[in-house]
Amino acid sequence: MEDLILVTGGAGFIGSNFILQWIASEPARILNLDKLTYAGNLNNLRAVESHPRYRFERGDIVDREFLRNLLGREQPRAIVHFAAESHVDRSIHGPDDFVRTNVNGTFSLIEEARAYWLALPEVDRAGFRFLHVSTDEVYGSLGPNDPAFSETTPYRPNSPYSASKAASDHLVRACHHTYNLPVLTTNCSNNYGPHQFPEKLIPLMILNACAGKPLPVYGDGKNVRDWLYVEDHCRAIRTVLSQGRVGETYNIGGRSEKRNLEIVGAVCDLLDELRPNDWTRAKSSTNSTGVRWRHLRAASARRSAGILNTKIGSVMSPAAAIANGWRNITPPSSEPVS
Ligand SMILES: NC(=O)c1ccc[n+]([C@@H]2O[C@H](COP(=O)([O-])OP(=O)(O)OC[C@H]3O[C@@H](n4cnc5c(N)ncnc54)[C@H](O)[C@@H]3O)[C@@H](O)[C@H]2O)c1
Repeated sequence: MEDLILVTGGAGFIGSNFILQWIASEPARILNLDKLTYAGNLNNLRAVESHPRYRFERGDIVDREFLRNLLGREQPRAIVHFAAESHVDRSIHGPDDFVRTNVNGTFSLIEEARAYWLALPEVDRAGFRFLHVSTDEVYGSLGPNDPAFSETTPYRPNSPYSASKAASDHLVRACHHTYNLPVLTTNCSNNYGPHQFPEKLIPLMILNACAGKPLPVYGDGKNVRDWLYVEDHCRAIRTVLSQGRVGETYNIGGRSEKRNLEIVGAVCDLLDELRPNDWTRAKSSTNSTGVRWRHLRAASARRSAGILNTKIGSVMSPAAAIANGWRNITPPSSEPVS
């Protein structure tokens, strides 16, 4: 077995941050397997594209023959599985791709990983890990006074996206309990940071504000979510990969619950400071706050937050780092979305 980690979905937002952090901090090589959907962007990885410990391979996790050949040829000691369709709104308008990639793709990957793992010499089999990256959205939403999500919170997915992730979590769990595949699962809250596709709240707000466009906010803007800086998340995944107990699930949160309006307000404050001229244009093109409401998903005062890191210890920055995290975001180069 090689000192190689296979990462799926490494050209996306979290996967690319994970690879950049890994190459900077760990000795093992990385093979990045990605289909390059609309969400995959190899520019995210420009800093490591010719690094001797990094390689890219284009492929689809649904394709079992491709996976079989890849695993047999490359002999990874772990798989870190990020590849997914990840945008809730897209799942509402077109759930098929979510079932295809998140459910069927994860199933293909664990089946091929299982066959590969079973054929390994015993000493290598003991060290192999399959780490499945999932979301706290599988737990549904919380009332204002409910306790935070924990690893024992029952699954109550509310969107096609979260239902497809819940299904993949169950398949991964079952593969461990039925066949002993050494799996680890992480469920994290909302990530933010560099290289996020500008359909998600924070990059969308930054790009629209800089372009003088309205800032669309769902419902009444009072939805509460927990915000996790992507580099903290990647550090947590590395911790789980090296120290996690096989078969366990680990929640990863930022301990930073915010209303969407607070997020937009904080982004506006930062833009006032960092890009004052652009942001003045944004404000004058909309109403007095610069925020325009969008009623795509009517969900008033929904709380999908408060995730507890009950098992993982402290690899997070303090919650106060949220504003500093935003300072590290280079706005993506894509056109703003309205
Ligand atoms: N972004 C968040 O806030 C968040 C929160 C919780 C959990 N997650 C989970 O973390 C993981 C990564 O999320 P992200 O935000 O980086 O997603 P993303 O949409 O930015 O990236 C997904 C990547 O997967 C690739 N991909 C999609 N379908 C594929 C397929 N069939 N085969 C191979 N590659 C494929 C895409 O090309 C892309 O590079 C996902 O599993 C997601 O469910 C994300």
